[in-house]
Amino acid sequence: MFDRSIKIAPSILAADFANFGAECRAIEAQGADWVHVDVMDGHFVPNLTFGPAMCAALRPHIRGVMDVHLMIAPVDPYLEAFAKAGADVISAHVEAGPHIHRTLQAIRALGKKAGIAINPGTPVEAVAELLDMVDMVCVMTVNPGFGGQSFIESQLPKIARLRAMIGDRPVHIEIDGGITVTTAPWAAKSGADVLVAGSAVFKGGSADNPAPYGANIRAIRAAAEAALG
Ligand code: DX5
Ligand code: ZN
Repeated sequence: MFDRSIKIAPSILAADFANFGAECRAIEAQGADWVHVDVMDGHFVPNLTFGPAMCAALRPHIRGVMDVHLMIAPVDPYLEAFAKAGADVISAHVEAGPHIHRTLQAIRALGKKAGIAINPGTPVEAVAELLDMVDMVCVMTVNPGFGGQSFIESQLPKIARLRAMIGDRPVHIEIDGGITVTTAPWAAKSGADVLVAGSAVFKGGSADNPAPYGANIRAIRAAAEAALG
């Protein structure tokens, strides 16, 4: 069921890479709504993370939504592998190739929720013709590739424009990059409902000491919900 309540999606890019299974179990136990998995290819973005085998290995450790953010080009040859790995939402970048429409069709044909991600330099109007074929638009508020960067405030009017463009379609707005207790309210007020947060969720904790994860998630959620009044 679709709803616009605030959802916190910790990015495991900020987790302990030697301990991903336990980290996923810990953030869910501490109140995470979705688990955000950042896939990078060293080509579309200047960093490398992991691929479908890692997603498949994580799947048994995630009870809720596995939200896979593909920062790869080309993307189409790998969609089936990520679907088989158990992704619930698969997002591809509009900048990753000339045929995003075909990519989104392919994701839905695989029975998955389709997301479209846009970089900070891309106008939100780039998704205008795609809103009836997606379940989510992900607005990047940092240049993709690395965690721990600063939120790019110039993206806020884009989020508000996107919210108006979406109207009453059941399409989530996800914000990815630089979300903290300070920036989460801005994103929520502009119309976002899924807040990805890496460093701001994982700071101060570990799988063996997960209480800080819960405190961080609750603080981000409370700040975002307060902004909605
Ligand atoms: C950036 C990734 C983000 C990132 C968020 O390329 O898509 O998901 O990990 O990390 P923070 O919250 O640290 O900016
Ligand atoms: Zn991401």
